[in-house]
Amino acid sequence: MAGRPTTAPGTPRPGMHTLTAGRGLLFGGDYNPEQWPEHVWDEDVELMKAAGVNLVTVGVFSWGRIEPEPGARDFTWLDRVLDLLGSAGIAVDLATPTASPPPWMGHRWPRTLPVDESGHRLWYGARNQFCPSSPVYRERALAIVTDLADRYAGHPALALWHVGNEYGQICHCDDSAAAFRAWLRERYGDLDTLNEAWGTTFWSQHYSDWDEIVTPRRAPYIVNPTQRLDFARFSSDALLAHYRAERDILRERTPDTPVTTNFMGLFKPVDYWSWAPEEDIVSNDWYPDPADPLSPARTALTHDLIRSLGGGRPWLLMEQSPSAVNWRPHNLPKPAGQLRLESLQAVARGADGLCYFQWRASAFGSERFHAAMLPHAGPDTRIHAEVRAHGAELRRLDPVVGTPVPAKVAMLHDWPSWWALEERGRPSDRLDLPDQLLRFYRPLWERGVTVDLARPSADLTGYALVVVPNLYLIDDRDAAALTEYVRGGGVLVVGPFSGVTDPRGHVRTGRFPAPLREVLGASGEEWMPAPEDRPVRCRWADGTGFTARTWTELVRAEGAGTVATFTEGDLADRPAVLRHETGEGVAWYVATIPEPEGLGELTVRALADAGVTGVLPELPPGVEAVRRGPVLFLLNHGAGTVEVPLPQPSEDLLTGSPVHDRVTLAPRAVVALSPLP
Ligand code: GAL
Repeated sequence: MAGRPTTAPGTPRPGMHTLTAGRGLLFGGDYNPEQWPEHVWDEDVELMKAAGVNLVTVGVFSWGRIEPEPGARDFTWLDRVLDLLGSAGIAVDLATPTASPPPWMGHRWPRTLPVDESGHRLWYGARNQFCPSSPVYRERALAIVTDLADRYAGHPALALWHVGNEYGQICHCDDSAAAFRAWLRERYGDLDTLNEAWGTTFWSQHYSDWDEIVTPRRAPYIVNPTQRLDFARFSSDALLAHYRAERDILRERTPDTPVTTNFMGLFKPVDYWSWAPEEDIVSNDWYPDPADPLSPARTALTHDLIRSLGGGRPWLLMEQSPSAVNWRPHNLPKPAGQLRLESLQAVARGADGLCYFQWRASAFGSERFHAAMLPHAGPDTRIHAEVRAHGAELRRLDPVVGTPVPAKVAMLHDWPSWWALEERGRPSDRLDLPDQLLRFYRPLWERGVTVDLARPSADLTGYALVVVPNLYLIDDRDAAALTEYVRGGGVLVVGPFSGVTDPRGHVRTGRFPAPLREVLGASGEEWMPAPEDRPVRCRWADGTGFTARTWTELVRAEGAGTVATFTEGDLADRPAVLRHETGEGVAWYVATIPEPEGLGELTVRALADAGVTGVLPELPPGVEAVRRGPVLFLLNHGAGTVEVPLPQPSEDLLTGSPVHDRVTLAPRAVVALSPLP
């Protein structure tokens, strides 16, 4: 679904630098003035100024206010909002309001409403109720985007475009089915090729006419996995086509204003590798769960992904919550200092902007109990005090603005592989891709080793270590590139159930992982999920042991050395972890899912092979260390006060104080250390 290019190749696009120039780090949030009478707006802007807010996102859900009935336009209120913000020096991230069509659209044109896989139409009354392939939705959305862009092109407050909101709509309606068929025709050309790719000799699924093909709707039993995989690809592309159509209108009218849409981290329905190059700024919404003990590492992984999606460029944390959200069953508040800790974690990992959902807490609607920068109780509150203090201290971090976060380790992640992996009918439903990524990421994070995420086709030559927690689906070229990478001196770690299928989702026959067998110097013949109540015992060569879970494989060494074995049952003494020196490099294969101590040890060994060390030689548990530009960030996510020895005297930019041999970090403390001359 190619859109037309809007910029000549080589023309530099505006980006984060366009926004941070003269402003420094961005600080603000979603602002929904349409929920409040106008006299409140003046107070908002005064309080924003006092809090150091310099960017607000406006208009995300304002379609009904701008177009109260089909074809009408009321921009007068938005004019006043933008003028008010502009005169206060607050930049506006202006949203196209297309994430939430007004009820008139679904009422008059029910085919704009999305249909789920059971054929049920999803109604208006919440948000996101549109079908990305609906011609009426498309036409009406582009019309309002055109008028919005025409109206605000050149407005001094306009700094950034925010297209839609958190794209992720999936639709199974007839319009979607027609668009899916068009997408399939482009992919396969003819029905024979499609039938072969989908393996339709299985269960008599042969298609004899394009019109027989529908989206993978609810069926009596397990639906064709390749049909579903292609539908996932199509759904991501269909949304992208819509995003591009809106973006092109904006770019044409305001070529110097950057465009973004807000991502959601490891969000399954949308392939962000294909989306990110279509944005000028990569932005993300991220809501760590205060009840999740793994949240600091999970968050670091997410931030590293977002930075990597933008090729290492500074990114924007578009939404986070100042405290509790309202959409989990039981919503813990963030303890004092957590808002600051999490926000600075994003800066440390490459964000040049920290925004919240939302500025003023809603008094009505589905999010009336979601925390906000300005709570219902007003400015004289602990949350608002924290917001203000944080907004003020961000001014001290100018030295990091625009600087990169260097990484020597890459972790591969691929959306189509994720989609294919998690289809039904596999050896175990307990293999969960984000969980696998986090398992392999954690020991690196704990050791202060910064990681970039990369797609399998990326150029990996700049990395000393490449970790592949799970790449179930892999194409021949990418497998060959990984092999070359190792031969050329790289170190590769491959997790279980990788290299299983080709891009169609067909199992590669022969011993597994067929396309990586040579580089790994090992191969397997049977995947053997383990009973959940029986931990799998494994042993390193020196006799020490570790525990693994859920998954084992019957593999043998074919040139690799066996560095750990299973100790019990049918697999006793067979390889659990293998290491293969080949060419100039080393390849590791992990035929199980080790618990953290086992993966920790394996990580230490792989890092040694790669000659990679963390940013500090030793880190107390819970302390995150990451270097960004000239600054070393240390963040204490642990519950106790710790001391961290330092290699050189530095200044903590956040306080302006010098620190010498060591720094003491209370729980939730952060330092941003800039070396003293
Ligand atoms: C985001 C969304 C916001 C708001 C927020 C609440 O997913 O973009 O509009 O709903 O969640 O946490």
